[in-house]
Amino acid sequence: MSYPILILGGTTEAYELADRLVAAGQLRVISSLAGRTESPRLPAGEVRIGGFGGVEGLAEFLRIQAIRCVIDATHPFAAQMGWHAWEACTLCDVPLLRLERPPWTPASGDRWEEVASWSEAVERLQRLNAKRIFLAIGRQELQHFAGLDDRWFLIRLVSPPDPLPPFCRAEWLYARGPFDLAAERAMLDRYRIEAIVCKNSGSEATAAKLIAARERAIPVVMRKRPPRSPEVQSVATVEAVLDWLSRVSKM
Ligand SMILES: NC(=O)c1ccc[n+]([C@@H]2O[C@H](COP(=O)([O-])OP(=O)(O)OC[C@H]3O[C@@H](n4cnc5c(N)ncnc54)[C@H](OP(=O)(O)O)[C@@H]3O)[C@@H](O)[C@H]2O)c1
Repeated sequence: MSYPILILGGTTEAYELADRLVAAGQLRVISSLAGRTESPRLPAGEVRIGGFGGVEGLAEFLRIQAIRCVIDATHPFAAQMGWHAWEACTLCDVPLLRLERPPWTPASGDRWEEVASWSEAVERLQRLNAKRIFLAIGRQELQHFAGLDDRWFLIRLVSPPDPLPPFCRAEWLYARGPFDLAAERAMLDRYRIEAIVCKNSGSEATAAKLIAARERAIPVVMRKRPPRSPEVQSVATVEAVLDWLSRVSKM
């Protein structure tokens, strides 16, 4: 039963799933990457890179490759791909499963301000009156904060954005997680951070800053995840995907 399956990837979980399925050797595993990263790490199995060209393009790919099921393992903040997958799989009658790590949830002592958009995040920052802000939101949406000329930002990214958004007062920090608690504590103290802005990625690798913020009663403006189709079944672990695949293969 070596049928082809498609993993929509770009996350740690997607790499892990591809590794497990290729090692099991029972399926033809095709992973898809959006192509945003230059020289990305390649998942095990077959790989295709770049957008499909919307719902129609993805549906065509599913038909041509005779894909038997799709696992949407894109990042929790990849807002579009999941909806396209849902529409294309519905059109082609292909089973679809979402693999998504659970979001972080606030613990006692946390001062979270949950927001659904970056404009809301900017409003909250203004209301909080925090002057020294740690931005940990990745590179793509920084421009929303660049107009806050009366604030100072510490902006942590994996690598420098090109072009650099026009922040009046900012320090740029280039680092790749995981980040440990001692280092996060030291960073918040050293830069005298008064508020943090981040996305609820749920990643263990970047969770330590939230503990350090809780200890210091620093408010965290937390962007909520974008909405998903309620019709798509979602699981939180690679094990649960393997279990689902074994059931789907018997159908
Ligand atoms: N957003 C984040 O914070 C974040 C963080 C880490 C990793 N990523 C990864 O980076 C990718 C792009 O993120 P995004 O926020 O731009 O996603 P998005 O808003 O959901 O997707 C935008 C477009 O990019 C293409 N695309 C996205 N994921 C793809 C995939 N796995 N394979 C082929 N095409 C894909 C699709 O183009 P077409 O319509 O042409 O098919 C999609 O319509 C995602 O795969 C995600 O897993 C995102």
